[in-house]
Amino acid sequence: MPLHTTFHPLAIGRLGLRNNLIAAPLAGLSSLPYRVLAMECGCALAISEMVSAEGAIRAHDRTRRYFANDERVRPFGVQLFGSDPASIAAAIRSIEGEPIDLIDINMGCPVKKVVSKGAGAALMRTPKRAAEIIRNARAATDLTLTVKIRSGWDDASINCAEMARIAEDCGANAVSVHPRTRMQEFRGKSDWRLIAEVKSSVRIPVIGNGDVHTRDDALRMFAQTGCDGIMIGRAAVGNPWIFAQVLGTMDSEPSTDERGKAAARHLDLLCGFMGEHLAVLNMRAILPWYGKGLHGVHRFMQKCNGIATAAELSHEIRRFFLTHE
Ligand SMILES: Cc1cc2nc3c(=O)[nH]c(=O)nc-3n(C[C@H](O)[C@H](O)[C@H](O)COP(=O)(O)O)c2cc1C
Repeated sequence: MPLHTTFHPLAIGRLGLRNNLIAAPLAGLSSLPYRVLAMECGCALAISEMVSAEGAIRAHDRTRRYFANDERVRPFGVQLFGSDPASIAAAIRSIEGEPIDLIDINMGCPVKKVVSKGAGAALMRTPKRAAEIIRNARAATDLTLTVKIRSGWDDASINCAEMARIAEDCGANAVSVHPRTRMQEFRGKSDWRLIAEVKSSVRIPVIGNGDVHTRDDALRMFAQTGCDGIMIGRAAVGNPWIFAQVLGTMDSEPSTDERGKAAARHLDLLCGFMGEHLAVLNMRAILPWYGKGLHGVHRFMQKCNGIATAAELSHEIRRFFLTHE
């Protein structure tokens, strides 16, 4: 099937993407194995989960894992969060030389622990600091630089268009917009009209994000907002096929067999990546997404949560999915 004309190669700064679908940063979920599966299904760029700037500078094993990458996932973006412009710049310099193509700055995380330190979505309330962070990041690297924002802090302070202009003025190459406020967290619907507003406010590419679950959703987002690319988060967890479906290269739903095989492979990749113990724990968080909507998934998960070895978990995954009616 040919690519729909809505889907096209996209240049972000000097980085050329084969199409305009991006796998969103997802804390606890979007490590290398997740990104490998997403890339195989057609997304053009995958972003790491958020990494604290201070953590990246210290680069303990655990933090390194967040941005560890290899040639299977290129291009690849690392997302940093922090509130100190100098730390963000130092973090960028400290990860130079890794297989990384893009730096994304998080200005959308709503979590209390993050915003209470002035990072994530708190930066929507401190545009001057946000500007300083972006300028420092720009000066620290020649890599493509993007910023991920929300619509604003709360309903009374919607400022995504202003923030996007700041990002552009300070040297960002693109901005992605998840049009919910910090106070909304993940409740309600994302307001795509704000993506259109951002698009008409800047010249750099605008990536729309929020509530794209199907190809139709993606086509509507392009049509309603004029955005240049789309970022998909939750709909891709346990469902890497969403990228092929949205692109129009796959026009069916994956069978339960395929879901089971992909889940087992995800577990295998996690084992190779973080060792068996952590892989089994991480897979407990990921598996419900693979089993979404399937009869008996609750009981299946109860069983999986009591399993400590990858061999047993893999066996249980195959048993559940491959014999599922
Ligand atoms: C479990 C989870 C973890 C997330 N982690 C991050 C993150 O690390 N950085 C970030 O910018 N956004 C993060 N997000 C937000 C997503 O990237 C995305 O903006 C949001 O889910 C809306 O897109 P969607 O409707 O396609 O999921 C997270 C969302 C979820 C559900």
